[in-house]
Amino acid sequence: MSLVTRSLEVIRGHQAPTGAYPASPTFSAYRGYSWLRDGAFIAEGVSRHGDAEGAVEGATAFHAWCARVVGDRAGQVEALIARPGAPSPAEMLPTRFTLDGLDGTDEWWDFQLDGYGTWLWALAEHTARHGVTVPGADKAVRVAARYLTAFWHLPCYDWWEEHLDRRHVATLGAVHAGLRAAVRLGVLPAADAEAARRAISAIAELIAAEGVAPAGHLRKWLGGDAVDASVLSCVVPFGLYAPDHPVGAATVAEIERRLAVGGGVHRYLEDTFYGGGRWVLLAGLLGWNHARAGRREEAARYLEWMAAQATPSGDLPEQVSDVLLAPERLQEWVDRWGPVATPLLWSHGMYLILADELGVRP
Ligand code: BGC
Repeated sequence: MSLVTRSLEVIRGHQAPTGAYPASPTFSAYRGYSWLRDGAFIAEGVSRHGDAEGAVEGATAFHAWCARVVGDRAGQVEALIARPGAPSPAEMLPTRFTLDGLDGTDEWWDFQLDGYGTWLWALAEHTARHGVTVPGADKAVRVAARYLTAFWHLPCYDWWEEHLDRRHVATLGAVHAGLRAAVRLGVLPAADAEAARRAISAIAELIAAEGVAPAGHLRKWLGGDAVDASVLSCVVPFGLYAPDHPVGAATVAEIERRLAVGGGVHRYLEDTFYGGGRWVLLAGLLGWNHARAGRREEAARYLEWMAAQATPSGDLPEQVSDVLLAPERLQEWVDRWGPVATPLLWSHGMYLILADELGVRP
């Protein structure tokens, strides 16, 4: 069985009856929860293989679940917008939900904005690609757009659920793409669309002013020196900078130079989570950037590396632990949470996306 077929099978097999995609069905710390960030990329991967049985319906069901989860929180969003002063992180919408769409009772690094933007982006991609209607989407798009328009400027945890006190470039890129998608979907009231457009411009200006390092590539967070592979998303797919724009090109080159090793990609140099291994989904993101820039051979090498990380049964892990940035920190995570999350559905989703970019079908 090809890894495309296997990936579709893993994702479909674990999709909850509610439509939610669990991040990793067996991993202690993720079990029972669905993330908007992971799920949006997983749905995009599935949607791109719409010829496969049940693929369009599966992605639509995920988006319908998101629409319910976000739409149900309209009252919370309006209360946050109406209340004077900036809300505290604890009052904001969660990052992950139980498969039933509840907030969940386990502690988490919960205030992250990127997932709401990534979901809007993936919803717009899926509906445009297949011409499907997602139940509840119009209301939820309005809620998510109002939420992001009001709060995009707040610091929050990043893709890796770290550094609450920073404004992360990848997060801002996801919000930028999400608000553009919301405007494009054409369901926002005029005043909301206008406010969203102003936020879109302000985000782009802020990143240009504080998110680009003197060497010309995007930074991990505004004003900082570090780089982070998550910022690849600001080029492809979020399109804040085109692949041939000097900032887009410099960003991809810098991430590859600093963080890619033999086909795998580290998150950032200081990473200590499970010793800081190479992430399968980031190989997919870098390959996707290469593919869009016309470097198909480089892209194919990342796809191959991803496939080579599958277990004998065809499951892709979150990260691989052979090349570690902080080897002395691996065991503490194994003791705390067990072996690396496998399968990680987001890894499979990124495999599906890159395979599609390269025309690799089942
Ligand atoms: C990662 C997140 C991811 C989550 C679920 C965390 O360890 O840092 O990026 O969304 O796992 O897969």
